[in-house]
Amino acid sequence: MTTVLQQLKPAFRIASVATTNNGINLTWKDGHESFYHNLWLRDSCRCPDCFQRDTLSLNSGHDLLKIPLNPIPQEVTLNRDGDLDIIWGGEETGHHSVFDASWLRAHCQNNPVLQQKLKPQLWDSSVSIPHFNYHEVIKDDGKLLLFLDQMVELGVVIIDDAPKNEESFRALIERVGPLRQRYHPTNVFTLDRTNTNAQAIQHSYQVGVLRNHTDVTAYDIPTGLQFLECLLYENPDNDRQAYSTIVDGFKLAEVIKAENPWFYELLTTEYIPAGRRRLCVEEKLAEYESSARKYEWEAYRRNHLINLDDNGEVYQIRYNHNTRIPLEVAYDKIHDLLAAYRRFSQLLQDPEYNVEFLLTPGQIFVVNNWRVLHGRTGIWNPALKRIVLGAYLEEETFRCRRRILLGDKTGMSDLWLMGCSDHALEILADRY
Ligand SMILES: [Fe+2]
Repeated sequence: MTTVLQQLKPAFRIASVATTNNGINLTWKDGHESFYHNLWLRDSCRCPDCFQRDTLSLNSGHDLLKIPLNPIPQEVTLNRDGDLDIIWGGEETGHHSVFDASWLRAHCQNNPVLQQKLKPQLWDSSVSIPHFNYHEVIKDDGKLLLFLDQMVELGVVIIDDAPKNEESFRALIERVGPLRQRYHPTNVFTLDRTNTNAQAIQHSYQVGVLRNHTDVTAYDIPTGLQFLECLLYENPDNDRQAYSTIVDGFKLAEVIKAENPWFYELLTTEYIPAGRRRLCVEEKLAEYESSARKYEWEAYRRNHLINLDDNGEVYQIRYNHNTRIPLEVAYDKIHDLLAAYRRFSQLLQDPEYNVEFLLTPGQIFVVNNWRVLHGRTGIWNPALKRIVLGAYLEEETFRCRRRILLGDKTGMSDLWLMGCSDHALEILADRY
């Protein structure tokens, strides 16, 4: 019978251990070498004294005031499970740490072999949007993970064969996690072509072209994922009215960076403020709601159109022309900043990058709202019927579900999964 250890890829099995003056060198079965500093190992100890098994957090026994800054391993071995076993000496004689080998490999700081983090794949109008089956995603965790991986790689998917009702729509979203609480009374909104009340207060209910945008740019933290399900589409003209449009904001950032670095710098460092004010507006967005309720929302936010992380990589696009408010920028930058903003707006409509498709009844369209801008072509025939349900998920909710599913795939215990980076989880999910 093969043991769990034997089933692991060579990259996750320790071949040999050697101590140095300040740490431990491990050589792995794939030939890679890793170094772990003694203090890092001692500080990361997960013995029951240092780390509570129930709360999965540091225990009072982990006292940095008492842990020596130069801990000394007295005995270093590989145990029967192939894990690293350390008995400490010096001031902490007898303190016993065991480190899961796979976990150590995923935490190797010198790890060119395993740098395979899922990266966004930028796309233009030639993209083929991945499709998933509603019932498979509902039933199968593996399918759910593939769907969430696509939200990282492409930022857009279509789910087919969904029952055409709000309960089923919610059920799909809740497979990932709880719906995001909106500032509106309703967390699921109904875009009904015939709803004149809503048309009066929301651009998305109106008949004009809805230009590509990200949602809720005036929120402190914009919605992570947006779900839109088509319940009804009847177009007597059979033309391209009320078609969905999308564009990859990360791709546009790359285009602007290449063609005009000054524009790119402005869009990543200067602010494009956004605002929304809705005080005591009565909202009854669907006929079946029992009564109209009031919501109070007074949002204001300064953000860049292109937001960069600590490594200088684009992690978020915020663009919604309708919620833009007057610029707060030095007068000598106004011209160039608006020229840069205008160039981005132009690219949003460029057929080279813009994808146009019909969302048909029973299809759910999911976009990563931190990346993919969405919109809709115009409606010019008053007889056109269209009803779409919409709802949001926070970015963190989506990321947590993906982390849980990756963790399940590793077959490792919570003791080691807890606190792994997304990158480490991706590596560990692939250890067999
Ligand atoms: Fe929108």
